Amino acid sequence: MIEEYRDFLPVSAATPVISLAEGATPLLEAPRLSERVGARVLLKVEGANPTGSFKDRGMTLAISKAAEAGDRAVVCASTGNTSASAAAYAGRAGLTCAVLIPEGYIALGKLAQALVHGARVLQVRGNFDDALAIVRELAEQAPVTVVNSVNPHRIDGQKTAAFEVVDVLGDAPDILCIPVGNAGNITAWWKGYCEYRNAGQATRLPRMLGFQAAGAAPIVEGHPIESPDTVATAIRIGRPASWYGATAAASESGGAILAVTDEAILAAYRFLASAESVFCEPASAASVAGLLEVGAPAGSTVVCVLTGHGLKDPDIAISQIAVPMVVDADLGAVRTELAL
Ligand code: F0G
Repeated sequence: MIEEYRDFLPVSAATPVISLAEGATPLLEAPRLSERVGARVLLKVEGANPTGSFKDRGMTLAISKAAEAGDRAVVCASTGNTSASAAAYAGRAGLTCAVLIPEGYIALGKLAQALVHGARVLQVRGNFDDALAIVRELAEQAPVTVVNSVNPHRIDGQKTAAFEVVDVLGDAPDILCIPVGNAGNITAWWKGYCEYRNAGQATRLPRMLGFQAAGAAPIVEGHPIESPDTVATAIRIGRPASWYGATAAASESGGAILAVTDEAILAAYRFLASAESVFCEPASAASVAGLLEVGAPAGSTVVCVLTGHGLKDPDIAISQIAVPMVVDADLGAVRTELAL
């Protein structure tokens, strides 16, 4: 991905590019969703990245720059995906990786990824915001580089998703719907659209609609949330680091930051899986839940960002759909149950 968009990224011949072939993710037409909304809706399937989330776009650049600077160790706080991506890219670069995750609130697949890629994983008795505060302080006292989205290279890498959308559609869409947690990604997409428009690659900018989970919606409520809570653990964040970036994207684009309930998130999650055959994680479905709530003008083009893969969080998937029935290993029993 760095090679494709080198001219827009802070890299030089001296930057060792650490890549796992991230980016170039599908921009998939969503016919049934389009029919429901009455507009053309496309899904940017970021779960198709190497570690299953959009974080890889930011991590390829953050780790390449860390390697260029001669850093030895990186650290992050994470609700799961950042830790999975940091572990993989740091491992590829031969850097030590430490991650702090909130105890009990990280999807199983993400925890497995951080572990198999060899990160030093600590579960913190606290939430993501507590973990990020520790990480930031730690980096002031010890020789480690933070690879959360407070690292500007993360934002620069992630903005390439907006470039890809414009490259495929030929211009920016009318509306971009995106989940908001720590608010780095909405900041990155907006930066990408603005830079591409300024470079003459697009003629216009989209309205940016960011969606927080109702139980973790500090930007919508206008104040930090001490105990955020939502089934979408990836965006269970009460004190977003890029708060200003999110509100700037919304106001400059004529968009908004809005809240969606867990019920609406899970309904959108099931709809995407059953009607569009796209399996995303619950946080990702917030973009579609939000679109279904606010709607879009007839004839408009809308892109919803599906930030992470559904396989990350198998527990939620199985809890949402009935556990399969057990039958005897017998054709008759199978035919009876399937009514075939
Ligand atoms: N969707 C998924 C699947 C995420 O993992 C995240 C953030 C977001 C949306 C929100 O993006 O934070 O840039 O506003 N996950 C971070 C993590 C916090 O630690 O993996 P954001």
